[in-house]
Parts: sequence; C-alpha cells; structure tokens
Amino acid sequence: MGLNSTPFGLCVVVVLVLYVNLSSGVNVIRPKFESVDLWSDNEYLNYTFGLDEETPYFNFTFNVLKNLPDVEVHVEGSLQNKDEMNHYFSMNTSYNLCKVFEFKDKSPIGVLVWSFLNDHGSLPERCPIPAKTYSVHKIWIPEEEATGVIKEIYFRLNVQATVNLPKPKLILNNTYKGVTFIKDVAAIKQGILSMIKMRK
Ligand SMILES: *[C@@H]1O[C@H](CO)[C@@H](O)[C@H](O)[C@H]1NC(C)=O
Ligand SMILES: *[C@@H]1O[C@H](CO)[C@@H](O)[C@H](O)[C@H]1NC(C)=O
Ligand SMILES: *[C@@H]1O[C@H](CO)[C@@H](O)[C@H](O)[C@H]1NC(C)=O
Ligand SMILES: *[C@@H]1O[C@H](CO)[C@@H](O)[C@H](O)[C@H]1NC(C)=O
Repeated sequence: MGLNSTPFGLCVVVVLVLYVNLSSGVNVIRPKFESVDLWSDNEYLNYTFGLDEETPYFNFTFNVLKNLPDVEVHVEGSLQNKDEMNHYFSMNTSYNLCKVFEFKDKSPIGVLVWSFLNDHGSLPERCPIPAKTYSVHKIWIPEEEATGVIKEIYFRLNVQATVNLPKPKLILNNTYKGVTFIKDVAAIKQGILSMIKMRK
C-alpha cells in the first residue's frame, strides 16, 4: 500500500510540506515603529507618510508648495542594543540636497539609486526645486538575512530640512522611533544594496 493512500501517509505528507515551507523562510531584521512625529511648515512643504508593516512598504508624498532654491538636510540617528545599552552607534550629519542632485548625475551608484527610487514615483532632479508634488511609493529598506544572535535594537532617526532663503528656515522636522525585531519571511525583499552587489 502506498504511503499517500492512508490517512497516516497523508498526514506525513502534510507535515513534510509544512516543514519544507517553514524551513525555506529566512530571518530578516524589521523595524517596528513606536512613534512617528512629522512636522512641516505648510508654507514651503507639506507631506504624507504611509506605512504598511506587513507587506512591507513606505509611501512618501511631498508637496513642494513654493519653489525651494537651496535645501540643507540634517540627519541625526542612533542605534542602541536593547540588552547591552552601552553598545551604541550614532550619527549626526548635514548635507546639501542640491549637491546630492549634482552627485547623482556624476556617479553610477547615484544614477542607480535615483532610477530605483524614480521607478517607484517621481523625485526632483535639480535645484531650485519647482513647486510640485513628488512621491516615492511602495519602497522598502534593502534587507539582508539576519545571521548570528541578533538582539533587539532601539533606533531613533531625526531628519530636518532647512531652505536657504537669505535666512535659513526650517521646513521639515521628522522623528522616527522604534525597535527592531526578527521576522521569518518567505523571501528577502530586494533593495538598492542587492542591486549594487549584483552589479559588482
Ligand atoms: C498641503 O497643502 C496644500 C495647499 O495648501 C493642501 O491643499 C493640502 O491638503 C496639504 N496636504 C497635507 C497633507 O497637509
Ligand atoms: C501607498 O500608495 C499606493 C499607491 O501607490 C496605495 O495603493 C496604497 O494604499 C498606499 N498605502 C499606504 C499605507 O499609504
Ligand atoms: C549634531 O551636530 C550639531 C552641529 O553640527 C550640533 O549642534 C548638535 O548638538 C549635534 N547633536 C547631537 C545630538 O550631538
Ligand atoms: C524637532 O522635533 C522634535 C520633536 O519631534 C523637537 O524635540 C525638536 O525641538 C524640533 N526641532 C526644531 C528645530 O524645531
């Protein structure tokens, strides 16, 4: 008698199929947002942020309400191991968005990142940034398989943008806070980093 023709055999097959499906998953590190504080001045800029943690993806839509001649972006971030609070990484950096636009025209990686993002929406090309709606929809952080013993990590990211009128004016101030967790997924979500690796 064949294995499949008995109820017991059927169970074995079901269990085997389940086992294969479960064990074919990969572990990735996913962020869980605990707070997202968004502020924009509503004179030069306003925007919406959407997040689907399940699928997962982000949507950003920026409405530039008045032409932006020159934009400075300031990013402060930190990562902290939940179990060993003295394991800490932080960054505090500023860059000029107009210089980034120049860079993307000159660098192959810049072009790659730009075309990846533009496949998901529309972004400004250069300064001054014309008043218009820009968006990036259904994008996700490039991710890698989580290896080793990974603990939960607190993250905090603050992004501020200033338009350089004769006097600098704050037009955006966003803070994202949360903690990472390990998720078993069927497949790693392709991202910019994997595209760069592929072309190495
Ligand atoms: C952004 O500002 C425009 C013009 O004032 C307004 O029509 C729109 O509803 C605003 N959007 C958001 C998300 O606040
Ligand atoms: C994201 O944008 C897409 C359209 O590009 C829309 O279908 C979807 O509902 C949006 N999701 C969220 C969470 O805002
Ligand atoms: C980040 O750097 C700026 C100066 O570039 C400084 O004013 C600010 O206090 C720094 N922030 C932190 C959290 O260290
Ligand atoms: C930016 O927002 C944070 C809270 O999200 C606030 O603590 C901080 O003072 C704001 N910075 C400026 C320059 O307004």
